[in-house]
Amino acid sequence: MKKDQARRKKERHLTTNQGVPVSDNQNSLTVGQRGPGLLQDVQLVEKLAHFDRERIPERVVHAKGAGAYGYFQVHKSMAKYSCAKFLQDAGKKTPVFVRFSTVIGARGSADTARDPRGFAVKFYTEDGNYDLVGLNFPVFFIRDSVKFPDMVHALKPAPDTNMPTSSSANSRFWDFISLTPESTHLITWLFSDRGTVKSYRTMEGFGVNTFEWVNARGGAVYVKYHWKPKAGAETIDRHEATRLAGEDPDVATRDLFDTIASGKTVEYELNVQLMEIADELKQDFDPLDATKTWPEDKFPLMPVGKMVLNRNPQNYFAEVEQSAFALASVVPGIEFSADKLLQGRIFSYPDTQRHRLGANYLQLPVNRPQASVDNNQRDGAMQYAPYGGGTANYEPNTLAGGMPREAPATATTHEFIKGREMRHKIGLTSDFEQAGRRYRSLGRTDQDHLVDNIVDSLGKAGKPIQRRMAENLTKADPSLGKRVARGLELVN
Ligand code: HEM
Repeated sequence: MKKDQARRKKERHLTTNQGVPVSDNQNSLTVGQRGPGLLQDVQLVEKLAHFDRERIPERVVHAKGAGAYGYFQVHKSMAKYSCAKFLQDAGKKTPVFVRFSTVIGARGSADTARDPRGFAVKFYTEDGNYDLVGLNFPVFFIRDSVKFPDMVHALKPAPDTNMPTSSSANSRFWDFISLTPESTHLITWLFSDRGTVKSYRTMEGFGVNTFEWVNARGGAVYVKYHWKPKAGAETIDRHEATRLAGEDPDVATRDLFDTIASGKTVEYELNVQLMEIADELKQDFDPLDATKTWPEDKFPLMPVGKMVLNRNPQNYFAEVEQSAFALASVVPGIEFSADKLLQGRIFSYPDTQRHRLGANYLQLPVNRPQASVDNNQRDGAMQYAPYGGGTANYEPNTLAGGMPREAPATATTHEFIKGREMRHKIGLTSDFEQAGRRYRSLGRTDQDHLVDNIVDSLGKAGKPIQRRMAENLTKADPSLGKRVARGLELVN
């Protein structure tokens, strides 16, 4: 009897989306044994219509990715620098969801393609979601967001041939890069073996853009973020990356999933570099320029906490594909700087997510804040939030006792800004300085791989482009430029 009940409990029956039992899932409804189908076969119509809508637009960039849940735990209170609630107390844990990704390839592309990697973390804090949307490199191709669509177009498949450029190896990419001197620094990262990481577990992460941390007294400092993998940083070389792209194109996705499924955790330490706002103009580079790093001897890394990933998503589409990270999602205690790349990013992410996922994308379980959401925004496609009820969907009101009302003010910087409105170029570019320094900081093997990887890729571009690029690399470091020019047979 008990056995029978248990069996019945386990048994699950097919239904339509309306919950109506489906007793035949093998044969569609026809007139006679060999006759035509019927529009009144609602079961078939619903099944096909839903299938026809299974795809949503893939991300314009970072389409291929892998996700995991876990927590962030603070080592030491950061109250001196930021009043963000999740950073106040040593030992405090905050739930997180992370998505790692490649940038340029489409959804089915290989994990090992030479590319920057995305490192996006969503902290579900008590003051709302904080998204730290970074990369595995400390710098970016460009410093002004107005250039981003051009940069991505030059990297994506060609509009005339649809030829993929996932290995960043064609004329269009190098054409753009050679005309964009500020990208030279990034090239010294992307074309080193850092551009072909071994796994997401063994990858560093960087916030790249500069933010401001603001403490309870309104005092602000500039901040840059660095993630260090507990398992150490590991890369593979170009040949191994090419082999894996053929033999195991999902190697990084699988590695992350299998590690967590086997009961192990994946861990990273969060470090920050801090700079006094007053020191901004005292540097020989512009600290708000996303193509520059801050020297670690002058701005040492300060450990903040650790992130532990310990749970796989249950459904890839619902949780990873539909996850939405946004640089715009900051919480009190963390503010934007005037970094021109960051300023454009503030707009772009929620905008594309409203297009990709719909107006109410923040109600999806993976995106929904764990802090309560209470405002008078209403309706829109796929709205299902049960409002508190009542008649007052406006503020101020008396009919709902004035609720929800404004929260108490939190500390902010109240910066005073004055200036002429025009399309300014930043004053201090020094585009080649840090690129050269990075090349000289590499060991012999890493230098050789960098040169070899550039020559292999740039060699597929036209000669005028090769010459322009070799000139930029020479400005960074004469020996780097010469070795690339020799490899390309531009000089003897
Ligand atoms: C102006 C420059 C940039 C613009 C306009 C831009 C725009 C975008 C857009 C539209 C997406 C797709 C988002 C989605 O559909 O959910 C995206 C994804 C992403 N971007 Fe950017 N991006 C820029 C620069 C950067 C930089 C500098 C970084 C890192 C520091 C970065 C990191 C990421 C990451 C990690 C993702 C994937 C997030 C995920 O896993 O869903 N982007 N970006």
